Amino acid sequence: MGETRGAAWRRRLYHIARHPLLWSRYLYVRELRKRDVLFEVNPRFRDWGPMYHVARPALERLTGASRAQLDGYFGELAPIHAELLRSVAGLPSAGAMMQAPLLYVLVRAGRPGIVVETGVSSGYSARLILEALEKNGTGRLWSIGIEKLAMGAIDDARSERLKGRSIGWLVPDRLRARWELRVGPSEELLARVLEEEARPLGLFIHDSLHLYDRMYAEYTLARPKLLPGGWLLSHDIHNNLAWPEFLARAPLAGDEELDHDLGAVRIPPG
Ligand SMILES: C[S@@+](CC[C@H](N)C(=O)[O-])C[C@H]1O[C@@H](n2cnc3c(N)ncnc32)[C@H](O)[C@@H]1O
Repeated sequence: MGETRGAAWRRRLYHIARHPLLWSRYLYVRELRKRDVLFEVNPRFRDWGPMYHVARPALERLTGASRAQLDGYFGELAPIHAELLRSVAGLPSAGAMMQAPLLYVLVRAGRPGIVVETGVSSGYSARLILEALEKNGTGRLWSIGIEKLAMGAIDDARSERLKGRSIGWLVPDRLRARWELRVGPSEELLARVLEEEARPLGLFIHDSLHLYDRMYAEYTLARPKLLPGGWLLSHDIHNNLAWPEFLARAPLAGDEELDHDLGAVRIPPG
């Protein structure tokens, strides 16, 4: 079940108590001025700890891993976070899925062999998934996205900083051997990728166009391809009713919400 109203307030208060100044600035820029933000302005980028703390019980239920195991996987992220703080903090986050570090923990704990995600901007989620696959020593990621960074309202000087960068630029060469980037709309590519290439599917993540029909269509294509015990994830589950309606009709029970807006459900094991 998605977050209850009480849980949502506890989560917000927990985050704000950890970083009151960062959250004040972020909410001012993002919610009041409706501007895109730099990575460093997003409290979920500056400190991955609160997000992990909030999501850990759900990750335990989704993966069956113990708290100590999950803490170990989360601990592995320290050098990756330090490198990203050095290299991208001053750049526009361009729609990056801020919960991507949670994908790292999920992939380390669940060890899916084949992962498919839709929606690629700078490739923050792809980077974290690929780091986990690399650490697992096995697995491949298919990312499907159109050649367009997710930029909204941001001043010209700042958007200049991403000029000339293609989608997925955050994925370094050392991780590309495990990566299949397919450029084009998921309407055209997803069915074929799932049918012919990315099999057997262990984990599917929607993060492309967050409109009801696209979301529902992607879940519908991915669900029958997922292995028993695999995971179906979706970002922006509060944009419309596609996620809850799909889960009800599938039916799929036991869904979780990972630190707001990232829905996750496990396919029943065989
Ligand atoms: C929220 S962003 C994805 C962010 C990505 N997960 C990351 O961390 O970099 C959504 C992306 O989906 C892309 N997109 C929009 N419509 C699409 C479609 N029909 N098929 C595939 N990608 C699409 C947009 O260009 C945008 O870059």
